[in-house]
Amino acid sequence: MSSYLLLRNPSANRVYAGEAAPLTAAELELTAPFASEIEQASVAGVDYLAFAADNLSRDDLRILASQSAAFALFRRDGDALYPVTLPRVDLLDDDLVTIPKYQGKTNEQFTRLLLNVTLAVCTRPAPFRVLDPMAGRATTLSTALLAGCDAFGVESDDKAFDATAAFYKTYLRRKRLKHTADVAPVRRDGRSIGRRLDVRIKLERRELIATLFTGDARDSGSLYGKKRFDAVVTDAPYGVVHGAGSGGKRSRTPAKLLAETIPVWAGQLHPGGALGLSWNTLGLPREDLATLLAEAGLDVQQGGAWERFAHRVDSSIRRDLIVAVKPKPAQED
Ligand SMILES: C[S@@+](CC[C@H](N)C(=O)[O-])C[C@H]1O[C@@H](n2cnc3c(N)ncnc32)[C@H](O)[C@@H]1O
Repeated sequence: MSSYLLLRNPSANRVYAGEAAPLTAAELELTAPFASEIEQASVAGVDYLAFAADNLSRDDLRILASQSAAFALFRRDGDALYPVTLPRVDLLDDDLVTIPKYQGKTNEQFTRLLLNVTLAVCTRPAPFRVLDPMAGRATTLSTALLAGCDAFGVESDDKAFDATAAFYKTYLRRKRLKHTADVAPVRRDGRSIGRRLDVRIKLERRELIATLFTGDARDSGSLYGKKRFDAVVTDAPYGVVHGAGSGGKRSRTPAKLLAETIPVWAGQLHPGGALGLSWNTLGLPREDLATLLAEAGLDVQQGGAWERFAHRVDSSIRRDLIVAVKPKPAQED
C-alpha cells in the first residue's frame, strides 16, 4: 500500500465555503473503490485529501483525474511528496462550463460531483446518455459533454434556452471545433409546441451530441419519446432564484413538482441507469424525497458516504444530493 495526497483545486474551498473537504472525501469513497483510509491531511499548512492504495492502474488514475476538485496528485513517502501525472480525461476544455456566469447557476464543481457519484452506480456501458430535465443554462449538459457523455435536456425558461443556444454557437465557433448547432421548431399534430437545440461536436475520437428542448420537465417523456437514458442528473429549483414552475406559480418547495416528475424520469431510465438529484433540504426533507424515489420503483442509495453531502449554500439553501438506481428485471429461471 502506498499513501497518496490529492490536492484540491483552490476554488473548491471558495465554492463550498469550507465544506469541500468532507464532500470531496465522500465523492472519492463512492467513486474510487481502490482507495482506502480516506481522510483529510495537512502538509506544511496545505490541506489535502489523503488515501491509501496499491499501485494505481491507468483506470484508477482516470477516476482520480475525474474527481470534481482534482488539481494534483502526490505519492507520499515520509516527508517527501512525489508528483504523479494525472491523465487528461475531459474531452473538451473546462471553460465550456466556467464561462457562462448568471444568477442561479449551479456551481460547476458540485455539478461534476453530482454527475460523478450518479454515474458511479450506473451499471450501463459507457459512453453514457445523460438527461437533465430542468437544465437551466446547461451546466449539467456541458459538464456531461466534458466527461464524454451525450447530453440531453429540457428547460421551461425560454430565456435560459436562448442563452444556451447562443452560447454553444459562439463557443464552438470560437474554439474552432468541427460542429453543428441548430435551433428548430418542435411540432406535434401540426402545431408548434416549442423549440429544440441540436448540437453535434465532431472530435477525433468520437462525436458528442447534445439536445435541449423548451418545455416542462413533466413532459420530458413525451418530448424524448422512446429514447432511454443511462442517467438523469438534475439540480431541482431551490424556491429562491428559480421557483419550481407549476403552472406559472412559484413554489418554495419542489415537492409537488418532484412528485409529478420523478415517475416520468424513472420511466426514461434504462434498467441499471441512475438518477441523481440535488435539492434544497429546507423545502423538502431527505426522507420525503427518498419515499418519492422508492415509490417510482428506484433503489435509493443510503447510509455511509451517501449521506455526507449536505452542505450550506447560503442562509436559505441547505443543499443535499440523493442518488437512486433503476433495478434490472429479475432473471427468469
Ligand atoms: C436550480 S435551476 C438549475 C440550474 C442549472 N443546473 C444551471 O446551472 O443552469 C432549476 C431550473 O429548473 C427550471 N425549471 C423549474 N421548473 C421547471 C419545470 N417544471 N420544467 C422544466 N424546467 C423547470 C428553472 O427554470 C431553472 O432553470
